Amino acid sequence: MDELLGASGVLRGALAGVLEGLPARQASGAVERLIASYRGDTPTHAPILRDRADVAAYAAYRMPATFEAVRGALAAFAEAVPGWAPGSHVDVGGGTGAATWAVRATWEGARPVTVLDWAEPALDLGREIAGADPLLREARWQRARIGAALTLDPADLVTVSYVLGELTEADRAAVVDAAAAAAQAVVVVEPGTPDGYARVIAARDRLIAAGFRVAAPCPHSAACPIVPGTDWCHFSARVSRSSLHRQVKGGSLAYEDEKFSYVAATRLPAAPAPARIVRRPQIRKGQVLLDLCEADEQLRRRTVTKRHGDLYKAARDADWGDDWPPPAPPTAPAEP
Ligand SMILES: C[S@@+](CC[C@H](N)C(=O)[O-])C[C@H]1O[C@@H](n2cnc3c(N)ncnc32)[C@H](O)[C@@H]1O
Repeated sequence: MDELLGASGVLRGALAGVLEGLPARQASGAVERLIASYRGDTPTHAPILRDRADVAAYAAYRMPATFEAVRGALAAFAEAVPGWAPGSHVDVGGGTGAATWAVRATWEGARPVTVLDWAEPALDLGREIAGADPLLREARWQRARIGAALTLDPADLVTVSYVLGELTEADRAAVVDAAAAAAQAVVVVEPGTPDGYARVIAARDRLIAAGFRVAAPCPHSAACPIVPGTDWCHFSARVSRSSLHRQVKGGSLAYEDEKFSYVAATRLPAAPAPARIVRRPQIRKGQVLLDLCEADEQLRRRTVTKRHGDLYKAARDADWGDDWPPPAPPTAPAEP
């Protein structure tokens, strides 16, 4: 089995195991508590994930979605930095380890991994889940509180996934600055809401001020062309629903779409996309409408019609979040 494709199957299997031994009622009660906490006041002054039932619910209910969102962000980053793979990874506010699995599913091979979080039960369960995968088994799970005193050991890649929303503004700045001081590449992912996007933009500004360039999703490192308050840049990742999802949310849909905002920035030489598709393409008869963020710092709608030949075919296959135009496929070596 392909090493990268295999990672999400192993994760799913491990997550199914997490719920064994947790009565269905208790699991759905914990999920409902979690949803209420995340709707309540943040920043939080104490961990939301307090015990095994909370973290099991988080892992089963949210981790597949945060995993897919981070994987989407990392895929775009990897396209902009081809040939590079992180030699080490630190996941800050890593919880049960969704981003470590996403890194595992993006780049082949093993690397030293450290997951930092202030919630001990989350770290314990993350360690247990990671035990299912030989490449993650050696990861270090360490208690750490994000705050002004946070410093990180040097690492090629630092991820901060679905964490900023739980922090004060000062702590958000502190974690982004600590990541920038420690890493060659920093990937920040947040929910795809107006607030999540605003936090991503604030992080993006700090990373650029620290000397980073944006590798994805933006085609440039200048200011975001979205007028604040009018729209928000976000993307979508498809997540298959677990039985717990169906139990809590009802309905029989086999999947749901996780909306996320992100920035992937680096000190490495990077080749950002010439343009990024920032909404779901609209397919009409004989034409495709693409909403693009372009390298000249403008948002534009482009219409690709049948007259554009191969580009039209590519537009019909294009997806929200993709580079545009798609990278040319590698050409076959010429016959001798
Ligand atoms: C929504 S969860 C995200 C977990 C994981 N990164 C993911 O993508 O699934 C937020 C995580 O941030 C951690 N966290 C929140 N505030 C923190 C703080 N001040 N210091 C350390 N960890 C914190 C929580 O314990 C929790 O594990």
